[in-house]
Amino acid sequence: MLVLGFSLAVLVASWPFSSASANPTLQRPLQQPGVIQNSHHDDLIGLHKSLVETPSISGSEANVTTFLIKSLESRGFTVQPQDLGAGRQNIHAYVGDSQKTRVLVTSHIDTVPPYWPYERRGDEIWGRGTVDAKGSVAAQIIAVESLVKENRVSEGDVALLFVVGEEVGGPGMREVNDLGLSWEAVIFGEPTELKLGRGHKGAMGFNVTAKGKAGHSGYPELGKNAISVLVRALYALDELELPSSDRFGNSTLNIGEIQGGVAGNVIAEDAFAVVMVRVAAGTPQSILELIEKAVRAASPDAKVVFGGGIGPVALDYDIEGFETTVLNYGTDVPNLKGDHKRYLYGPGTILVAHSDHEHLKISELEAAVEGYKRLILESLKR
Ligand SMILES: *[C@@H]1O[C@H](CO)[C@@H](O)[C@H](O)[C@H]1NC(C)=O
Ligand SMILES: *[C@@H]1O[C@H](CO)[C@@H](O)[C@H](O)[C@H]1NC(C)=O
Ligand SMILES: *[C@@H]1O[C@H](CO)[C@@H](O)[C@H](O)[C@H]1NC(C)=O
Repeated sequence: MLVLGFSLAVLVASWPFSSASANPTLQRPLQQPGVIQNSHHDDLIGLHKSLVETPSISGSEANVTTFLIKSLESRGFTVQPQDLGAGRQNIHAYVGDSQKTRVLVTSHIDTVPPYWPYERRGDEIWGRGTVDAKGSVAAQIIAVESLVKENRVSEGDVALLFVVGEEVGGPGMREVNDLGLSWEAVIFGEPTELKLGRGHKGAMGFNVTAKGKAGHSGYPELGKNAISVLVRALYALDELELPSSDRFGNSTLNIGEIQGGVAGNVIAEDAFAVVMVRVAAGTPQSILELIEKAVRAASPDAKVVFGGGIGPVALDYDIEGFETTVLNYGTDVPNLKGDHKRYLYGPGTILVAHSDHEHLKISELEAAVEGYKRLILESLKR
């Protein structure tokens, strides 16, 4: 079922129905995006604005889901929501009747808190989610829509998938494994500064806890200070050398939270710290062994409570014309099972994502549309 919106659009499309290699726009250097002023410019900016203006902090994505379903339907896609319960839905959108496609283009619609409103500042767009990842979402939709309009993809070629919960453990993407679908290539949208990811680090989390014995601080010999036990362990962890690799760089450790004690004149009975490692080599299990050994040696009474994790994630980058990069953050890539090619690409930089100054340049959004189109067409050639 090729829908009316597309049929009309194809008739009026000014674009010649040429092959990818014959198309001059695709041969433009992708890092020089500012010069491209496409016919879909206003649509892209408007779509991105609506997405950012609709708050969708993880767990409360329903309003943006509702908006996206309407928007995708009005663009002529067949839209198939996947219910996760608690009012949460992933959105799968495709051309015609075929849910099964060769290529999948996907990103996430949830954001971290707090909400920051949409604001246009010259050629920049500020606000929560402008980068992570509503820039990717908007560019992906416009990219697929324009490939359909240009008659360069058709039913069975490419689908869009937008998931909830990427920022908090990826329940949305993990649910997608139950759809019983598979793809040759999956293009994940996250801020990569328009570079193609060669891989991203893994991550593992653990807590260090200490149990002491409370008492009057004037008589330390009668108690045991949990904070002292904890601090010795943490000092050792800060000094610990973790595995590195040529591809992913150094594993790094962050002591992100620390709590303990009740007052200056009381021997602390409890203390704990929350620690995270960005894994560049080895497995979470092998790193856990290093951590436990270091803690045992430095502070035998401290305990390590492992919270789980994953190793480094290798990505495909066998498509010409992109700069490549390695990312230090986690994504939904490992949450989607299958032996598809994995590409990671998107507008904006992770260096401002999750911050109060999250923003991107309009030219990056424009360039991302061209980048996604190229990734989709190249994936379909293989
Ligand atoms: C969703 O939209 C409704 C209606 O505009 C609004 O009242 C509600 O606060 C929104 N929910 C969230 C989580 O933003
Ligand atoms: C990795 O750590 C080593 C030693 O601490 C340092 O010299 C090097 O610059 C680090 N590499 C990266 C990519 O950060
Ligand atoms: C670590 O501590 C935090 C804060 O109390 C808690 O939310 C988390 O579940 C703990 N993780 C593990 C692995 O115990």
